[in-house]
Amino acid sequence: MGIIMSLIRLRRRNDDEEEIEHQLSNQNNNNSINVNVISSPWNSYNNSCSTVTHEKYSAPFVRENMRRRVKLEYAAAQQPTTVGRWIKYYSSCHRILLVGEGDFSFSTCLATAFVWASNMIATSFDSQDFLMKNYRNALSNIAELKNRNCNIMHEIDATTMATHYFLGNMKFDRIIFNFPYAGFYKNLSPLHRQLVSMFMKNAKEMINEDGEIHISHKTNGFHREWNIESVASLHWLRLIEAVDFNHLDYPGYNTKCGFGGDNNFNSYPSKTFRVNMEVV
Ligand SMILES: C[S@@+](CC[C@H](N)C(=O)[O-])C[C@H]1O[C@@H](n2cnc3c(N)ncnc32)[C@H](O)[C@@H]1O
Repeated sequence: MGIIMSLIRLRRRNDDEEEIEHQLSNQNNNNSINVNVISSPWNSYNNSCSTVTHEKYSAPFVRENMRRRVKLEYAAAQQPTTVGRWIKYYSSCHRILLVGEGDFSFSTCLATAFVWASNMIATSFDSQDFLMKNYRNALSNIAELKNRNCNIMHEIDATTMATHYFLGNMKFDRIIFNFPYAGFYKNLSPLHRQLVSMFMKNAKEMINEDGEIHISHKTNGFHREWNIESVASLHWLRLIEAVDFNHLDYPGYNTKCGFGGDNNFNSYPSKTFRVNMEVV
């Protein structure tokens, strides 16, 4: 059985490489290439979930990334899949949804730790165009995520995601929103609390029975007014624990201010609030 699976993987790898070379040699202009990106979240669970997007990248960029992807897929195939790889609270065996990503550096950190990230869907509220204009590392992070078979989606609103035509039908073990902010509205805690509240309401619909919702959040100044635990209780969610957040636990993660520009913010002091469903 193992030998057959290896042969199938090898065949797919060769097909991938042939497809790359074919696409590259068909380009009249060798400076750019159109790619049909087919992503199939949980393709081993549900073959019907696939989306196709048409994207334009430079040919050397595509060539380099596709080669890298083939190598990574091969490396992943060598790993025992039942043990899982861990980084902090996250395992390659969890189905993970990330929302409100900035330059996708947090997702990239998890994906790198997992080697192969077909268990993750990483999303941003911002459009792809916004990301390209504002974050110098967004494109390379997204390419790295795609190489590792992570699914990427843009313009996903955490406050309505449970009704999303595609995400709304899925269940996750971990749903993560790092440093939710409704905009540059200092001292307007109700707006930020509303964002967190609606996120929790939606995320609750999308987690497994023993799934967890994680929010990392600053704990100084006006941030204290948000009172994440009390927001959670409004939705019958229970705080498991609030643990100190240390960005060194997540190599490569850059905390982005969002809403224009490529600025980072200091994430100290912060906590990760882990909540799950209240047992009644
Ligand atoms: C302070 S930034 C944090 C960005 C990123 N999570 C990080 O840790 O670097 C706040 C983010 O919240 C996102 N956001 C705001 N409203 C949102 C919504 N309704 N749904 C999802 N994300 C939202 C913004 O796009 C912005 O990137």
